[in-house]
Amino acid sequence: MEKLRVELRERSYEILINRDNLHLIGERLLRFSTGSKIGIISNPTVAELYGNKLVSSLKNEGFDPYLILIPDGETYKDYFWAYHILTQLLELGFDRRSCLIALGGGVIGDITAFVASVYMRGISYIQIPTTLLAQVDSSVGGKTGVNHPLGKNLIGTFWQPSLVWIDVDTLHSLPEREFISGVAEIIKYGIIWDRDFFEFIKTNKEKILKKDENILIAIIKRSCEIKAEVVSKDERESSLRAILNYGHTVGHAIETLTGYGSYLHGEAISIGMIYEARLSNLLGFLSKENYQSIKDTIKNFGLPVDMPSIVDISAMIKTILIDKKNIEGKIRMVIPEDIGKMKINFEVNIEDIKKLFYE
Ligand code: NAD
Ligand code: GLY
Repeated sequence: MEKLRVELRERSYEILINRDNLHLIGERLLRFSTGSKIGIISNPTVAELYGNKLVSSLKNEGFDPYLILIPDGETYKDYFWAYHILTQLLELGFDRRSCLIALGGGVIGDITAFVASVYMRGISYIQIPTTLLAQVDSSVGGKTGVNHPLGKNLIGTFWQPSLVWIDVDTLHSLPEREFISGVAEIIKYGIIWDRDFFEFIKTNKEKILKKDENILIAIIKRSCEIKAEVVSKDERESSLRAILNYGHTVGHAIETLTGYGSYLHGEAISIGMIYEARLSNLLGFLSKENYQSIKDTIKNFGLPVDMPSIVDISAMIKTILIDKKNIEGKIRMVIPEDIGKMKINFEVNIEDIKKLFYE
């Protein structure tokens, strides 16, 4: 088993990575001072695959687990379904010592964390991420959220989990497209933080695509290590944590302009990472060779690299202008000056953005 720690003083927690460990969660929970009631929040897709394993493991150790399901999909990560979960918890008599478990991808992780943060002013929760994206990104760091009709993730809190429990075996049931989309976030960690890791990902492409478990554990571990280090230094994203948004300015704009769902998140940020790397090259920072290496690596994993033809460039520029990272009308982006070295909150001028998309 691989073990990491997210250092956040009294809110520190462990990330445990292993294979075939879902049946051990009950035993692990005995170490926490939690009450007997455990709410497992999931959706029908994931609950059918892994729900029973979790329920039996918890029952075997004397816990009282309740499976609470919401429909599968990003559109259900909203206030209505959060309220639905809260109502169920109240009706089932959950109290301040009760605990929640998020069993699923980032959608389930975000809504469970949000509910945990507001139920009776905050109860503990555990992340059991079952998508690659959730295992390397959304389950770590304590950003919770639900969507609002006016925008994605606009309602949320910071509320750290008590434990992140990763079972790489769950990735075998994940649709291939979702798996590859998660690889994009792993490539991102190499580019933003660690050139050796970037090279390791390139070298082990075949094994990653074959889901070799030793390699999966290694790349998930390194990704979580990087995220944990960033979050420990800047939990509330006052500066460094913005580094994790590399590829996301253009990526989010693609998601918005193509309608959420046409491009998976990792696919959209793949194109975003390439455009933002090219911008850095145009500005004279990133070398042509490094730009090409980023593009080739993303492409070699079967991720998209070209701007979708349905995206209107003037709409893209308008969307970039209203990105959350901008301050007082100035466009701020995270761009690589080298592989493993970033410029954070870099002020970009609108003329350079136009050059990027029109030339
Ligand atoms: P998702 O949660 O929608 O999961 C993708 C699909 O895979 C779903 O249909 C799900 O039911 C299915 N699935 C999950 N695990 C499975 C498994 N093991 N086998 C078979 N099917 C499985 O998508 P996602 O990409 O995991 O997460 C996206 C969400 O994460 C977005 O809402 C995004 O905003 C959020 N996010 C949050 C953070 C954060 O820091 N909190 C970071 C990144 C993304
Ligand atoms: N996924 C970005 C963050 O956690 O900050």
